[in-house]
Amino acid sequence: MNLSKEHITALAAERDLSTSELMSLLQAEGLDSLLFSAADKVRRQIYGDAVYVRGLIEFTNCCKNNCYYCGIRRDNQSATRYRLEQDDILACCAEGYELGFRTFVLQGGEDSYYTDAKICGIVSAIRNRFPDCAITLSIGERPKDSYQAYFDAGANRYLLRHETADPAHYRKLHPEAMSLQNRKECLFHLKEIGYQVGSGFMVGSPYQTLDNLVADLRFLQQLQPDMIGIGPYIPHNETPFSKFERGSLSLTLRLIAVLRLMFPYALIPATTALGTIHPQGRELGLQAGANVVMPNLSPVKVRKLYELYENKICTGEEAAQCRGCLERRVESAGYQIVTSIGNVKKPNS
Ligand code: 5AD
Ligand code: FES
Repeated sequence: MNLSKEHITALAAERDLSTSELMSLLQAEGLDSLLFSAADKVRRQIYGDAVYVRGLIEFTNCCKNNCYYCGIRRDNQSATRYRLEQDDILACCAEGYELGFRTFVLQGGEDSYYTDAKICGIVSAIRNRFPDCAITLSIGERPKDSYQAYFDAGANRYLLRHETADPAHYRKLHPEAMSLQNRKECLFHLKEIGYQVGSGFMVGSPYQTLDNLVADLRFLQQLQPDMIGIGPYIPHNETPFSKFERGSLSLTLRLIAVLRLMFPYALIPATTALGTIHPQGRELGLQAGANVVMPNLSPVKVRKLYELYENKICTGEEAAQCRGCLERRVESAGYQIVTSIGNVKKPNS
């Protein structure tokens, strides 16, 4: 299909295109600057030049799952496992608060050591001490009652990437024990409870096709998430997928722009994975429509151990160094870091 400027204008106006048009747009070589500037325009209309910061605390790399792509999968015997206790996590938050962070993202593997009581204890301790902050959880699939308990304890947001919306592709990325249906159910449960919900997927994951990517976009249209996180697949040596190529920078950037046009209000991070495959990956992500960055607040001693993929950036820096570095990077891309809580600006929320 011969794609033109009109398709981008139509995507911006209608927030949608036909499946074949979307597939052509994702492959179109010559339209990137038009596509990115259309996405930037929409982003500036809603969020101006603001870039929201979220402090990421990777509090456990123990995981019961065995996803074929992930470096902290259960069967990776060479991973050194760690867990942070409540006091460690609170210390990360305190340091982050001083640096201007007003959102803390608690991310970890699916680790049953953190019972509902433990998670609720951690969440309510953060809630009491930092009442003006948002608490985001990213701890995988749990029963609806558990999600409700964390929400009641003070959590506001939840990140759970669907990873791929195609059941056959999902099967190729995950062992039998995991199911796409359960993952989707979790996302709808989180929405019903009242969380601001984030989902997303990897770009260029093994066996992924363009049809799969359009299915991802269609699923997101159904879910209408507040946050959408995508990043390139990056191989990790100690996984069954170690020999697969990483995802491409240009396809990831195009998808960020398409997401901005389809979901104008979404909070879209320029992810660490994007910064890992290109020295200016995050800056390019912002210029293609992303409006969030998530620097690492985890203690330096565990940062290298939370290794989902190889050569992850920022594993040696102090939180304050990352914060300063990002501020300069964001400004060099033409935007400003803001330290407000940064809730989604959807008209009805
Ligand atoms: N490359 C890129 N992203 C990965 N993730 C897990 N493993 C990898 C990898 N090898 C992503 C998944 C997960 C998120 C926390 O990190 O999409 O949801
Ligand atoms: Fe971490 Fe640049 S953001 S060092």
